Amino acid sequence: LFTVPPLKLAEKYFELYPEETDPVWINPCIDKRHKSIWSKTKTCDQLPKFLVIGPQKTGTTALYTFLTMHPAIVSNYPSPETYEEVQFFNGKNYYKGLDWYMNFFPVLKNSSSLFLFEKSATYFDGELVPMRVNSLLPYAKLVTILISPIKRAYSWYQHMRAHKDPIALRYTFYDIVTANETFPKSVRELRNRCLNPGHYAQHLERWLSYFHPRQLLIIDGEELKDDPASVMSRFQRFLRIKPFFSYRNRLKYNPSKGFFCPVTEENSVKCLGHNKGRNYPPMDYRAEKFLSTFYLPHNVALSKLLNKLRQPIPEWLERDLSRG
Ligand code: A3P
Repeated sequence: LFTVPPLKLAEKYFELYPEETDPVWINPCIDKRHKSIWSKTKTCDQLPKFLVIGPQKTGTTALYTFLTMHPAIVSNYPSPETYEEVQFFNGKNYYKGLDWYMNFFPVLKNSSSLFLFEKSATYFDGELVPMRVNSLLPYAKLVTILISPIKRAYSWYQHMRAHKDPIALRYTFYDIVTANETFPKSVRELRNRCLNPGHYAQHLERWLSYFHPRQLLIIDGEELKDDPASVMSRFQRFLRIKPFFSYRNRLKYNPSKGFFCPVTEENSVKCLGHNKGRNYPPMDYRAEKFLSTFYLPHNVALSKLLNKLRQPIPEWLERDLSRG
């Protein structure tokens, strides 16, 4: 029998299995071997039961806010860097480990009747995210919101301008979405970040290769905007959550904001901040025309997928398909 010091052994191991150098956190309560060596003070009750996965600019903050009004739904603690979003399964936070993630969630006394959740809008289009979520939370429910990818792209561009992104400030929306190889790399990168999340079918297929369709709720973002109470009723049926919470009198339309806003316990209306539901000029006609054609194959794929899943086709999708 031959052995070497631990570090050398580890180096040898990763030389033999290079694909394992990237960690994948597995649910300690599903794998008996892990549970038995896990600290007795830790509990899987501190992991979320459902995730709102995005994509960005579809109304995810409004949904998050409405969910936190529910007496049986508990959100994560805010992050100093990314506010209400934890952003664990994408990007570098994943390497901070499971304890880092779990510390975002309270230890609940009556955890069986309460639903912990988190919303990170960047999960939707992350290449590795579905695999990682499935490894840690295989029974979690997933929620996505879809709006017209054309509108979403424009809202995202406006969001980048509001955040003083130098490229978004310098180039028009039309320049960015049509940027070809003659444009600087930074513009093409911004174009990709702007347009890629809108390839809805492609991203949904990736999620569905790891999760059963029954675990996925697809919300029409236009309906969330126009009739949030109905969406929240459907959401509660999807979660099978009790007690049923009626949002009818708890969300009030605010004409100056142009959106539904939560009614607080003290009976005042508290709308989302000025960065949600921004005022900006209408989209340039040329950009809209370009994007109608650009997104056509993606929208066709989405309508086929929704049919396969026996999900209704949103009005915005019918509209985008007829324009493309
Ligand atoms: P705009 O600011 O472009 O209008 P997210 O929270 O995912 O970043 O999405 C922001 C978008 O949510 C806003 O985009 C707005 O259109 C939409 N939205 C939907 N319902 C809303 C509500 N009740 N209050 C504010 N914004 C809402």
